[in-house]
Amino acid sequence: MPSAVPNSTPTPATNAGLQRALAWIQAGPKRLLIGGEWVEAKSGKTFETINPATEQLLTSVAEADSADIDAAVRAARRAFEAPSWAGVSPQARSRLLFKIADLVDQHAEELAALESLDNGSPLSSSTARVGQAADIFRYYGGWPSKVHGTTNPTDASTFLYMVREPMGVCALINAWNVPLVMAVMKIAPALACGNTMLMKPAEQTPLTTLRLGELIQDAGVPPGVVNIVPGFGPTAGAAMAAHPDIDKIAFTGSTGVGKYILQASTGNLKKVTLELGGKSPNIIFPDADIDKAVEAAVNAFCRNSGQICSAGTRLFVQESLYDEITERVVRIASGYKVGSPFDPDTKLGPLISDKQMDRVLSYVDTGAADGATLRCGGGRVGDVGYFVQPTVFSGVSNGMRIAQEEIFGPVLSVLPFKDEEDAIFQGNDTQYGLAAAVWTRDVSRAHKVARALKTGRVWINTYAEVDPSMSMGGYKQSGIGREMGAESIEAYTQTKSILMRL
Ligand code: NAI
Ligand code: MG
Repeated sequence: MPSAVPNSTPTPATNAGLQRALAWIQAGPKRLLIGGEWVEAKSGKTFETINPATEQLLTSVAEADSADIDAAVRAARRAFEAPSWAGVSPQARSRLLFKIADLVDQHAEELAALESLDNGSPLSSSTARVGQAADIFRYYGGWPSKVHGTTNPTDASTFLYMVREPMGVCALINAWNVPLVMAVMKIAPALACGNTMLMKPAEQTPLTTLRLGELIQDAGVPPGVVNIVPGFGPTAGAAMAAHPDIDKIAFTGSTGVGKYILQASTGNLKKVTLELGGKSPNIIFPDADIDKAVEAAVNAFCRNSGQICSAGTRLFVQESLYDEITERVVRIASGYKVGSPFDPDTKLGPLISDKQMDRVLSYVDTGAADGATLRCGGGRVGDVGYFVQPTVFSGVSNGMRIAQEEIFGPVLSVLPFKDEEDAIFQGNDTQYGLAAAVWTRDVSRAHKVARALKTGRVWINTYAEVDPSMSMGGYKQSGIGREMGAESIEAYTQTKSILMRL
């Protein structure tokens, strides 16, 4: 069984970064970033953000609603038209992105600690993700001078060419599960392409996005280019989705809210990209490196306590190995330490909220009621903080709710399959299509199965490895469009064809 949660007060061993994060938090209530100024909400309202490991208040944050969204859109529009941004050379935009990357690196320990305090991820994961965030800024820092148009073949009487231009004012709305990287995945390509933006972090986790806003200011990004407007979905978020002067909206979150955003965006036909839920299949063939596959399978559903859109939550095992692999997965998962994000041995920190914990635990009941066998976990750990044990169900069939619905917690369904065809069929038999993995030493099989899976990402003999050039996004109800890689450059630009009669 996972060990009991220690008193989740961070230990002194967790360093200078934590002290700096706490000092920043204690420096005072947090405000909105609009037009280059840190301001109170027009309503004067604030909301609280807590540490999900201790349930204690971290700080209060100005709460944007539609009036503040209006102000941020006006600031972003002015900045978009201003020569200080519109007239900036691609090289200068690159330098800004590289500068932000350096500032993220210089504040890496502080940002990692701040992320762990606000969303509960183990410090080791937060630290790795701050490094990724800097890398994403550098990757997109290389793009501004390479966003080319085309010259098109015509007869001698015309000149036809296409230019690629920014979208304009972009609304960026994020979830709470990996706040900093998710913010950077949207801000970096939007900046690289010359857009201006307003970003709403999730109400549970505003802090690292606000701190990033300060670093973006320090790097010298002109006022109004990046605005940060924390607030709630139905007020601030809905105002962004419906705003008539926003050109593009990029959203990460639940499929339900994604559909709402798509509908709300029809008012002025915003360009929309959506990164939504998943129920990703992780398929182990008998010829795989089983030791590696089993270790990775546990990590695939426990990482970030399962609060990852591409978590490997359906483990498909060829039936000859089903019992053995299930046994091994249960053994490893039961040994994963659940506890303080600041304890270096911790594998699973808390879930983000009591609401999320209750939701996850209710799926444990659903699994049992539908006839699956609970093999380990299934309960809360301790009574302070939203900690849930790694939970494994065997005897699951793919039609059960625990195999079809996104749980967003450390809950795994292990399912048997007969052969390649059956693995592909069951793997694809879901409304989602975000990610998948296949484990085999047979090269042809690996590529055949990878091609047959209807998901935006497929890993072969690994899980969840990322690269800034690797796009992500959803087939089916996992989303619309792609983020990362060259595809984000397309998502944050539009083309204009120009024909001249000579
Ligand atoms: P959510 O989809 O409600 O929240 C995500 C973001 O959308 C937040 O910034 C929120 O303020 C905003 N939002 C909410 N309602 C909105 C509206 N009407 N208009 C505009 N913006 C709005 O997700 P929630 O409630 O935090 O989590 C519920 C479930 O959603 C999770 O259990 C999980 O299954 C799924 N989820 C999936 C994510 C993914 O990356 N695939 C991320 C977060 C949640
Ligand atoms: Mg929080």
